Amino acid sequence: MYSNKLSRLVLGLYRRKAAAVCGVVLHSPAGRSTFSWAAVCKQRTLWLQRSASLELRLTSTRSASQTTVDPDEVKKFQSLASKWWDEQGEFGALHAMNDLRVPFIRDNLLNVHRARHPGKPLAGLRILDVGCGGGLLTEPLGRLGADVVGIDPVENSIGTAQLHASYDPDLRERVCYRVCTLEELSAEEEEGGEEEEEEQRSGQFDAVVASEVVEHLADLETFAFCCSHVLKPGGSLFITTINKTNLSYALGIVVAEQLLRIVPSGTHDWEKFISPVELERLLESNGFSVQSVQGMLYNPISGAWSWTDSTAINYALHAVKLTEDPQPDSHPEDPAHTAATHS
Ligand SMILES: C[S@@+](CC[C@H](N)C(=O)[O-])C[C@H]1O[C@@H](n2cnc3c(N)ncnc32)[C@H](O)[C@@H]1O
Repeated sequence: MYSNKLSRLVLGLYRRKAAAVCGVVLHSPAGRSTFSWAAVCKQRTLWLQRSASLELRLTSTRSASQTTVDPDEVKKFQSLASKWWDEQGEFGALHAMNDLRVPFIRDNLLNVHRARHPGKPLAGLRILDVGCGGGLLTEPLGRLGADVVGIDPVENSIGTAQLHASYDPDLRERVCYRVCTLEELSAEEEEGGEEEEEEQRSGQFDAVVASEVVEHLADLETFAFCCSHVLKPGGSLFITTINKTNLSYALGIVVAEQLLRIVPSGTHDWEKFISPVELERLLESNGFSVQSVQGMLYNPISGAWSWTDSTAINYALHAVKLTEDPQPDSHPEDPAHTAATHS
């Protein structure tokens, strides 16, 4: 059963990839053909301009394998599944990061959705927390009133998250956890929306959150495609992750993992880090508009995070799912475009 759902999902992913590679929009969201010779000529010019950078992308290690799961990553987090709620332990920096990421998510959502419930500003919103681990971010979002679904492929982490949330009666109704991947959830939704007209189909979540997750995935193209698929048009995607710079290698891996042991040794693979520009390009080719990118800095002495102008190490990104298919003329490599989206 899954193979059918997954094959539809994969087909959709390839259709979008093919459109991105050729630079020609083959179908409108309603499925109507938008073919014209003028558009083809324009797209061919764009295609020639982009072919060099695309070649680089296609030969990169981040090729589409249609699963986001890297078994080594899952094994790593499996061995840490009982440690999530130890604030002084391996995940201490993630606990502290809530001081930045929770207001970042709340305030950006409130810019779009007016708070209707005093004390519960996110009431009425559905949020998907991808790679929720033990629920460190899921819980505070639930306490702000959102209905949150936390998913993670590591069964023991979900067990820890469920147990911890069960102690708070306020969360029981609002937070639920599942052992699954984003692509599995997305495939379920594809099945649910099968009878609906293409135009009427929309994702089920107002926001998707993936905090400190993308650097652990096997395939970011699948991730971006599925995020778009499960989001309502106009829905928000929030990502926090680590930039791919020399500084992030020195501080994020050598200092944080090997010298200070703020995070367990081997947690991160520098090859999987991604720059804001590359992430932006990936998201925009999957129908998102990036609204803001902000640098974050961890102080290992105080154990606190603060916002910074530099995105050289950690950063937070907010993107919005467009209601239209991605427009090939607005290319994220254009420096003017990139500068406009970075704050
Ligand atoms: C550094 S932890 C972040 C946990 C949580 N987001 C937080 O910030 O507290 C990375 C999480 O990503 C999860 N993960 C790894 N591969 C995943 C995948 N393919 N899909 C979803 N989550 C995944 C891990 O199991 C782990 O819980």
